[in-house]
Amino acid sequence: MAAVSGWGKLGRSTNIAPRGPSAYSIPNFLRGDCAVSDGEVFPVFETWAQKAHLDAAGYEAAAARAKTDPDGFWREVAGRLDWITPPTQIKDVSFNKSDFRIRWFADGVLNVSVNCLDRHIAARGDQTAIIWESDDPEIHTTLTYRELLAEVCRMANVLKAKGVRKGDRVTIYLPMIPAAAVAMLACARIGAVHSVVFGGFSPDALAGRIQDCDSKVVITADEGLRGGKTVPLKRNVDEALKTCPGVTDVVVVRRTRGEVPMTEGRDAFYSELKTTVADTCEPEPMNAEDPLFILYTSGSTGKPKGVLHTTGGYLTWAAYTHELVFDYRPGEIFWCTADIGWVTGHSYVVYGPLANAATSLMFEGVPNYPTNSRFWDVIDKHQVEIFYTAPTAIRALMREGDEPVTRTSRKSLRLLGSVGEPINPEAWLWYYRVVGEARCPIVDTWWQTETGGVLMSPLPGATHMKPGSCTKPLPGVQPQLVDAEGKVLDGAVSGNLVITDSWPGQMRTVYGDHERFIATYFTTYPGKYFTGDGARRDEDGDYWITGRVDDVINVSGHRIGTAEVESALVANPNVAEAAVVGYPHPVKGQGIYCYVTLNADVTPTDILEAELKGWVRREIGPFAAPDVVQFAPGLPKTRSGKIMRRILRKIAEDDLSNLGDTSTLADPSVVDDLVKNRTQQS
Ligand code: WTA
Repeated sequence: MAAVSGWGKLGRSTNIAPRGPSAYSIPNFLRGDCAVSDGEVFPVFETWAQKAHLDAAGYEAAAARAKTDPDGFWREVAGRLDWITPPTQIKDVSFNKSDFRIRWFADGVLNVSVNCLDRHIAARGDQTAIIWESDDPEIHTTLTYRELLAEVCRMANVLKAKGVRKGDRVTIYLPMIPAAAVAMLACARIGAVHSVVFGGFSPDALAGRIQDCDSKVVITADEGLRGGKTVPLKRNVDEALKTCPGVTDVVVVRRTRGEVPMTEGRDAFYSELKTTVADTCEPEPMNAEDPLFILYTSGSTGKPKGVLHTTGGYLTWAAYTHELVFDYRPGEIFWCTADIGWVTGHSYVVYGPLANAATSLMFEGVPNYPTNSRFWDVIDKHQVEIFYTAPTAIRALMREGDEPVTRTSRKSLRLLGSVGEPINPEAWLWYYRVVGEARCPIVDTWWQTETGGVLMSPLPGATHMKPGSCTKPLPGVQPQLVDAEGKVLDGAVSGNLVITDSWPGQMRTVYGDHERFIATYFTTYPGKYFTGDGARRDEDGDYWITGRVDDVINVSGHRIGTAEVESALVANPNVAEAAVVGYPHPVKGQGIYCYVTLNADVTPTDILEAELKGWVRREIGPFAAPDVVQFAPGLPKTRSGKIMRRILRKIAEDDLSNLGDTSTLADPSVVDDLVKNRTQQS
């Protein structure tokens, strides 16, 4: 990794803690133990304070009004959208079990695709809505708002012709091509509920997600293309559909034109279907609380949850936060590198930017193909003004040194953003100094699939920046730190992060399992939304997210439930039992460490280790492939049979002096064995 010491006063990053023989330089706070200094404070740039949507006083005033007059405040914010019937009921929320409800703008009527497309046509019909940069650096295309609207209408008409009606679910399994945004907006146009499944998921994972929400139609592509390699999307769909008898139609978008099998009567190419339909389509009037989409995400236990977002509140939040956090003005070129398979792609590639009449750049490729300059080349090629990516990409590129960055211009850039995982100060400083040449503010945005959009972030005209801190809540967001028993913690302190009141972009339910929604988020600390994250608040009231406090791990910004990896492992015929934990990884943030107990007659070998890694890859997807498999004759369990994950985490982290009390274990000797056979990380 690049050293920070040469950066003079900016380099006061005291929390780089090489540890143990493997000594990867990983800051303490990436390990979740909060031992981070507050470091340097970067004040708001004067130029930004003058021109931004909100300066410091404006932020204070908005935050205060959102508290004292929530209905008035949010009515005004929602007024940024075009409503068929403007809402008169604004906020109707209770987090208490007895009268639990989350409803925003409940009597309002609108259509999301109209807000993202039709309403911009008069003034901006010929403005580029989407710039698509292909995996191949020689190829890009653009779509104006007018063209995008026509394409969305065609796709909407294709879906209608397939019998899709308001409220039906449609699964979208597409690569990063404009058709992905088109498919999402087409669903929104006719009131269908989309469920986008990341193209990196395996057939099995895709099948589970199709079954859970009972989609009848799947939209996919022949193949995806990333980093010069093809991804067999259609073949994965074929495999998945073996266990999804409810699917009647598969719409296949041509991407690579690779040969793919087509099932007669079920599969059809979009390029052919679209020639048979009109390019206009009446938008469906939707109630603000009608579902817009389902997005599956990992929790600490059980199968992935179908996070459900609704129409009015979600779009209000996506648009409002996109404008505020990035200080966005219509027509600016905005690039969020996230895949549309994740919530960041939903809110900041598609819905937020398009609602705000942005030019949104969609990138099909990866940061290091064909060279490590790709991001910066794309920024120069399309004159990108705002760039939003994940710390894992920044860390990976930082390792390659400054030259791939400095040989590009990046003069068009004016703001940088980070999302998805804690950003270590070292990476923040590199992003700030080398990529942004100390002239672009960085917004470190903390949020979750569940929150619909950003909840905490510096605002470029209002908030100072601290490398590694997401600083302050947005107006209307009320964070609180509590201890394990739920006692509210005041002042500069670490604790579990809860949000005490609702915001419009909050998820409304877990699809098909409202009880699970309440149990997961509102019972640990009754009456409060529990984020699953730990955080520290410093003397200035700034927040520092320290990572998940539950059994969710964050690998390269991808959220993975350890329970999912465990269940994939135990599905292997050789495996008797498995326990999976995260450990600090210098590029990915966290890596996946698996302790595996084999069946009695199976011999642990290197071949089997590789086989199990490949197995998880196939069961869930390549991004969930374990980094480490350690064979363990036994796992540390309490006498009641509960696996002591705390001990497993400490061993994986190589923090052996902190194993804590092992005397309550049913068999304390298993710990000695685990330590002795710990798999060394390089
Ligand atoms: C983590 C992604 C620190 C956090 C938008 C959260 C972050 C989980 C940040 C949600 C950040 C996201 N700083 N941690 N700026 N942003 N996280 O649902 O642990 O994929 O709970 O949503 O990512 O991941 P999800």
